Amino acid sequence: MPHFLDLHLTDPADLRAMIDQAAAMKAARKGMPKGTPDADAPLAGHAVALVFEKPSTRTRVSFDIGVRQMGGQTLVLSGTDMQLGHGETIADTARVLSRYVDLIMIRTFEESTLLELAEHATVPVINGLTNRTHPCQIMADILTFEEHRGPIAGKRVVWLGDGNNVCASFLHAAGQFGFDMTFAGPPPLDPEPEFVAAARAKGADIRIERDPAAAVAGADLVVTDTWVSMHDPASTRERRHNQLRPYQVNDALMATAGPQALFMHCLPAHREEEVTSSVMDGPQSVIFDEAENRLHAQKAVMRWCLGK
Ligand code: CP
Ligand code: NVA
Repeated sequence: MPHFLDLHLTDPADLRAMIDQAAAMKAARKGMPKGTPDADAPLAGHAVALVFEKPSTRTRVSFDIGVRQMGGQTLVLSGTDMQLGHGETIADTARVLSRYVDLIMIRTFEESTLLELAEHATVPVINGLTNRTHPCQIMADILTFEEHRGPIAGKRVVWLGDGNNVCASFLHAAGQFGFDMTFAGPPPLDPEPEFVAAARAKGADIRIERDPAAAVAGADLVVTDTWVSMHDPASTRERRHNQLRPYQVNDALMATAGPQALFMHCLPAHREEEVTSSVMDGPQSVIFDEAENRLHAQKAVMRWCLGK
């Protein structure tokens, strides 16, 4: 079953083909109103369930519009409104949804929920973020990087701050797309060793730095994310802010990185916390291209899942 669960689980040639198809589909509908269907409507006759157990703006809207542009139908479902939130098992939910729809996207907490859904579904399942990973985001980020700078292979991505779910998927991508990565953050918030080891095993040069200025010098891409993710307890907020403050992305850090460096953030951002508005709205920032490219990248992911 062609599930899209994590980047290290999908063949690198298929990932490459998805990015190239996303770029081609984006170019083909340039200038068209956003509600106008793609000329070939590859998902005509298909229904897609979008299940959210956590809040979302980009993932919700980009998947919904993406399916519609490809001629399919969507159901946007909130976990709390489903029987899933009232004791029905994941396995039974998977079996039932598979009788109604052709594809399931889920945003959830535990990775085990995603894996159990995929195990029991008889249609493909897409990971729309778990506590551990966020693969769809990184597909959009690679599309965005390559639009601005050409092939990402051989480049260096520098991640600042929390070694979280988005960082983990960047590490998976380093192994699959052949780029190098530096993580700069406080030791308690290092990425899980498993993600670092997996990228290194595939030949990526992964460095762990403590000094943010040393980390970013010469970077091709500087990336950060919120200091408190949706699954992090509110009680950890103050400690996390204290640990992460030295890793704020600001004008001085981007100057140290150099003018070749792009800036990315998956959004939502907390302006003046992990990144200053001057960087977010500055000349090196491509954050809104990233947001737009969620749409184009995920359309290619969905086509791959459905063999279209
Ligand atoms: N970047 C991202 O996944 O955004 P949402 O939480 O708004 O979906
Ligand atoms: N790390 C963030 C990403 C949000 C898109 C979170 O999990 O809340």
